[in-house]
Amino acid sequence: MVAVTINGVTTQAPDGISLFDCADGIGIRVPTSCRKHGKCKECIVEVAEGIESLSARTEQERHLKGNFRLSCQATVTDAPNRSLTVAALKREIRCHTMRRANLRIERHAFGLPMGRQAALEPAVTRDGERILIDDEEIARAAGPIHGIAMDLGTTTIVLRLFDLESGEQIADTSFENPQRFGGSDVMARISYDSEHRGLLMRTLAGYLTRAIEELPVDPKTIYEMVVVGNSTMRDLFFGQSVYTIGQNPYRSITEIEMAEGRRTTTSLTSTGRRCLLPIHPNARVYGAPVISGHVGADAAACMLAVDIAHEDRLIAVMDIGTNTELILGNRHRTLAASCPAGPAFEGGAIACGMPALDGAIEDVTLASDGNFHLGVIGGTAAQGICGSGLVDLMSELLRAGRMNSMGRFEDDGHRITVDAANNIFFLEGDVNELAQAKGANVAGLQVVCSQYGIDFDEIEVFYLAGGFGRHLKVDASRRIGLIPNLPESRIVQVGNAAIEGACIALLSRSRRRELEELVKRVEHCRLETHASFFDYFVEGCQFKAVESANRVAG
Ligand code: FES
Repeated sequence: MVAVTINGVTTQAPDGISLFDCADGIGIRVPTSCRKHGKCKECIVEVAEGIESLSARTEQERHLKGNFRLSCQATVTDAPNRSLTVAALKREIRCHTMRRANLRIERHAFGLPMGRQAALEPAVTRDGERILIDDEEIARAAGPIHGIAMDLGTTTIVLRLFDLESGEQIADTSFENPQRFGGSDVMARISYDSEHRGLLMRTLAGYLTRAIEELPVDPKTIYEMVVVGNSTMRDLFFGQSVYTIGQNPYRSITEIEMAEGRRTTTSLTSTGRRCLLPIHPNARVYGAPVISGHVGADAAACMLAVDIAHEDRLIAVMDIGTNTELILGNRHRTLAASCPAGPAFEGGAIACGMPALDGAIEDVTLASDGNFHLGVIGGTAAQGICGSGLVDLMSELLRAGRMNSMGRFEDDGHRITVDAANNIFFLEGDVNELAQAKGANVAGLQVVCSQYGIDFDEIEVFYLAGGFGRHLKVDASRRIGLIPNLPESRIVQVGNAAIEGACIALLSRSRRRELEELVKRVEHCRLETHASFFDYFVEGCQFKAVESANRVAG
């Protein structure tokens, strides 16, 4: 027997049993639509420990690399097939499905301007039994009419379901993007898609199908879906080639076609049937327009949510993720940029890093006696440190003089023990990864501000968007120089502004038209071509308060 832990639940498994059946035995539902025949590719698990105690990869798993396996193909085996690790000797396997229920995903938005959000004017209407989209009949039915807004992130996905006649939100749901077996950032997904065309799209469609079927309405009453996401995620979902987004000058197919005069918008339109979803087959699936390059439909949705088209104040929106999106401006002029920050702030590439799951340290205080006081998500024993915990930790080390502004540890060599009982530690090498992620964000902001011709000080409202931004401590973030050194009163942690923008576009045709016009007016800052980007980046890698480069220079 082998101890198998799936999504934190442990069972004793006999040799020869598949991970799929192990999961089934302990009540964990693994996504499938091929009944364990190795065809649907949906039953992926990520093996954290003990992969040596599993059978060799099968032909059906050729598309998977690293620690990813198809749970219907991977069986617990007597004979470890590679060199023995501690886990293999102890006969332990730890893995999780691609849909972990306990990941903290930001579903909501806070502190957004509310004045113009509420008007109900959906594209889907009814005339007796005729269901119309933009006044064209697509179906005949007597029941309710529903719509879905979706924020399709590289890491997480959020869906909200609305009654389109009352405007009432009926339900919401969120889960991890299952495409992470194709890499954690957009460039890795682009490269994966070029080798296994269509597989990422089909896997996602399988997970979305299940999520939609679990909503408390008949999926066939869903007649429209609005999708926002970065350029790569959006285009993968619509089955477009994303190859050109990965090659200089990093343009999506829609952007190229628009520049060539072959289309008038970068938005995409498809149907439920073509997107392989269980909603009404004639339902319209609308992909909001992308701005340019990697600055996608999620950034466009954020602009709608913060109502930049009617804003007189100078505002900035920073959505920190594997790709950080930046927007700066007001109704007169708007700039946008995308910074390749990488996965460090989501726990990737950090020795004890992990996503914001139960067991993640999210809160760190360094007491005067040198001990760490830790807050752990779910109140369980610590298993690792998530992004907000890493920011806290570095801020505390800096405050206490145990780390200098160059990210070097002052006392304990190259390693600091954070939680001895649970073997959680922090390395100087981790600091380097986080410094580079931070450096990319700061450099992006410096370039955008310099192109706009302003100092940071002139930003009147600084929206910190996204799940990570929502849980950051503003003080700690300013101390390490992750965000600019602005007064706290100007910083608004808005949470998931992109889903809010998607909802506005779903519920209001005129706001959707406004979005289409807005993206055409945005100036895209190409960071990689800016002469000072590298200098700003080097400066931004330091752990100190970030002041405006323009002002410092002046
Ligand atoms: S259940 Fe379909 S591939 Fe495993």
